[in-house]
Amino acid sequence: MKNEELLNLAKKVREKAFAPYSKFKVGAALLTKSGEVFTGCNVECTSYGLTICAERVALTKAVSEGFTEFAKIAVVADTKEPCSPCGACRQFLHDFGDFDVILSNLENDTKEITIAELLPFGFKDSDLQK
Ligand code: THU
Repeated sequence: MKNEELLNLAKKVREKAFAPYSKFKVGAALLTKSGEVFTGCNVECTSYGLTICAERVALTKAVSEGFTEFAKIAVVADTKEPCSPCGACRQFLHDFGDFDVILSNLENDTKEITIAELLPFGFKDSDLQK
């Protein structure tokens, strides 16, 4: 699937964001290695810290349906620069390997990067065993 198509899916799901507190809507579309797409939007909570980002919604949807191998993720928000994932989401994505990340905004300014570039020296499951 082309980056543009994945970005369009991220843009579309962004409209479903539940963001009554920040009013900042984010959309993500995650492509599996076998070609399925899982989308996600941010879901905020009255207890603000419980908010879940669009990227983690897309990822947990995929994992809960049995998909753990990913080719790329697209992320879109109404930002000046292409929207960049928060630290928590970087680690969450990093746990599922290195893949492409396409960041964009509503003006279609786009940046292509990888998980490893977004989170160099991230925590690894092999660090759990000495
Ligand atoms: N947010 C995301 O969904 N993804 C990001 O990469 C950055 C932040 C959400 C969380 C919160 O609902 C709103 O954006 C403002 O921080």
